[in-house]
Parts: sequence; C-alpha cells; structure tokens
Amino acid sequence: TITPVILCGGSGTRLWPRSRAVKPKPFLPLVGQNTLFEESLRRVSDRSLFTAPLIVTGAKHLAHVEEQLSFAPDAQIIVEPAARNTAAAIALAAQRLAPEQVMLVCPSDHFIGKPNAFVAAVKSAAKLAQEGWLVALGIEPTAPETGFGYIRRGEDIDGSGFRIANFVEKPNLERAMQFLSEGNYSWNGGIFTFRAGDFLAELAKFRPGIAQAVAASVAEGKDEGQRFHPDAEAFMATESDSIDYAVMEKTERAAMVPVDMAWSDIGSWDALYEARPKDNHGNSVHGPAELVDCREVMVDSDGPRVSVIGLEGVIVVVDGKDVLVTSSAGVQKVGKLKGASNQ
Ligand code: GDD
Ligand code: MG
Repeated sequence: TITPVILCGGSGTRLWPRSRAVKPKPFLPLVGQNTLFEESLRRVSDRSLFTAPLIVTGAKHLAHVEEQLSFAPDAQIIVEPAARNTAAAIALAAQRLAPEQVMLVCPSDHFIGKPNAFVAAVKSAAKLAQEGWLVALGIEPTAPETGFGYIRRGEDIDGSGFRIANFVEKPNLERAMQFLSEGNYSWNGGIFTFRAGDFLAELAKFRPGIAQAVAASVAEGKDEGQRFHPDAEAFMATESDSIDYAVMEKTERAAMVPVDMAWSDIGSWDALYEARPKDNHGNSVHGPAELVDCREVMVDSDGPRVSVIGLEGVIVVVDGKDVLVTSSAGVQKVGKLKGASNQ
C-alpha cells in the first residue's frame, strides 16, 4: 500500500476575492461541490491501495482541515509550527513512516479531471518507487509557463516510466519557450512518489541541515490523538526550500511517469474558467446572474445578482463586500491588487 501525504500550505491570492487568507483556495468548492482539499482526499480514498493519509498543514489551517475530513476520517495530521516550504513538510511526513513505506506526495490545491488516470499513473510510479526511484508525475505542457518545473524525459525504465534527464524548476520565459520547442519536456505536476527512506537519504545528501532539523523536531515532537506536533524550536531552525530545488533538480535517482489527467493547478481565474462547465456560448455562471449577448463570460457571485450585457472574455466575482471585474488577460495581476493583500 501507498501512504498519501497531502500538503496544505498555500494561500492562492490570485483567486481573490473568493480565496482569502482566512479561507484560502484548497478549502473552497471551486469546481463542483467538494473543495479542492476534499477532492484530494477523495482521489486517494481506496483503502485497498492507499493507507490513511498524512496531512501536513500549519496551525492556521487546522480548523479547515478538521472540518473537511469526510473522505478521510482516519487521516493523521502533522501540524507545522511554521511554514518552511515543501522539502521540510515532506521530510516531516517521511520521518513518521517506516523507511520502506512508499509515499505519494500530493498538493491539496489542484484540479484533476480524470481521477482514474491519476490512480493508474500512481500505480506505475509506485512500482518505480519500490525500486528506489524518486518519481514525479509529468504533465503535457501547453504553454511556456514560468511557474512550473520542467522535466526532460530520458531513457525508458521497464515500460513503467522514464529517467529524468534534466529537471529545471521555474525557468525564465526564454528557457521555458526553448524547452517547449525542443519537445520531450513535461511539466512537473508537483505529485511525487518514493519510499520514505529514499527521500530522506537524498535530502540528507543535498540539504543535510534540513534533514537533521526535521529529524530532531520529530524526535522531540508530541502525539496528540489524530494530531502530531513536531517540536517548534527544532522545526523553526529548518531552512526553507522546495523539494524541487532541494532534491529533484539534484538527485540521480529521478524518474517520471507521464499522465494525461486533465490537470490544472487552478493558479488564476482563467484557469478556473477552463476547469468549470460552460454553456454553448462559453459562459460559466456560479450563483445568481443574468447574461445577455455575452460570450466567454464568467460570473461567480455569493449573493448579489449580477447582470451582464454584451461582453466577451470578462470575469466578474462577487464575494461579500468585494467585487472583482477583470478581462481574462488581466487575471495574473489579481494577486497584486490592494484588495487582495489587505483582505
Ligand atoms: N504543509 C505545507 N507546508 N505545504 C506547503 C508548504 C509548507 O511550508 N509550502 C507549500 N506547500 C504546499 C502548497 O500548498 C501546495 O499544495 C504544494 O505544497 C506546492 O507548493 P506551491 O507553493 O504551490 O509550489 P509551486 O506551485 O510554486 O510549484 C510546485 O508545483 C508546480 C505544479 O503546480 C513545484 O513542484 C513545481 O515544480 C510544479 O510544476
Ligand atoms: Mg502551486
């Protein structure tokens, strides 16, 4: 069996005003009726394949996590004393498991349209993990996005996946464009499979300080029923780094399994528009709204009725006392609005 490790850290300010510091992106029902976090647990709820999940989260998200465990009432929660990025968060989970246990690291804030394809890819990845590989799921790239890791496929391993010939985290635009035109590159989906001991060994090789500080925080930590609290002082001493920079760019044991699962990291309102159902004019409506002569308009209102006439490619979001109106080209700037930072 595979132990799911669900990472719950992020903020998602580019989805303001719906996503806010008090209730960020993973805990909102952005696509369908379940939240992204709930769907992350539901995807790994087959207990013949997966053990109870480990959820790694900060104290400020704990209440939301505990409210949204209907798909994993058996989950264990590791409460981080502070955010130290994904290398440390994953190391916390790995330290709580037997070294030979295969873990599946998943973000809690992504959308996956084809959960069966996800599970099939995870099975291939777990086979490689049993052989000592650190496996990333690879997504077919569609644009030169600079917010993702890029993976160049190397040689085939037993028909289950490929060696990673090159892993480049968040390249600049010029390199991202070059990777796309070269072909043979995938986006890193941020979903990883490896044995706990293999991850810790590679982390100790490349970032021994992080490995040691996390080990100390777990050794001195406290069990409290469903929750585990690593020792705060030891954990705060950990440096911040992501698994991508700390381990995946450096390890010789990196492998990838390509997967076509209608994946989106829902990074902005236009990505959410893509993931949501639309009518035959390409309009997407959540909440009370009346659209006349509109094309590719998205309305999402939590109460007030929104009426729109004769517009194309516009996004309107109403949340409490905040209203956002943006063109689809403007969505990347939402996180920089004054409203989004003084939420
Ligand atoms: N518990 C915990 N603690 N979770 C964290 C922390 C932390 O300190 N930091 C980040 N996370 C969680 C986030 O909530 C998210 O679910 C996941 O870990 C990944 O972190 P992001 O901050 O969203 O990473 P990113 O989007 O910049 O990049 C990663 O994901 C891309 C795909 O979406 C990288 O892995 C890229 O290579 C990848 O392409
Ligand atoms: Mg992300």
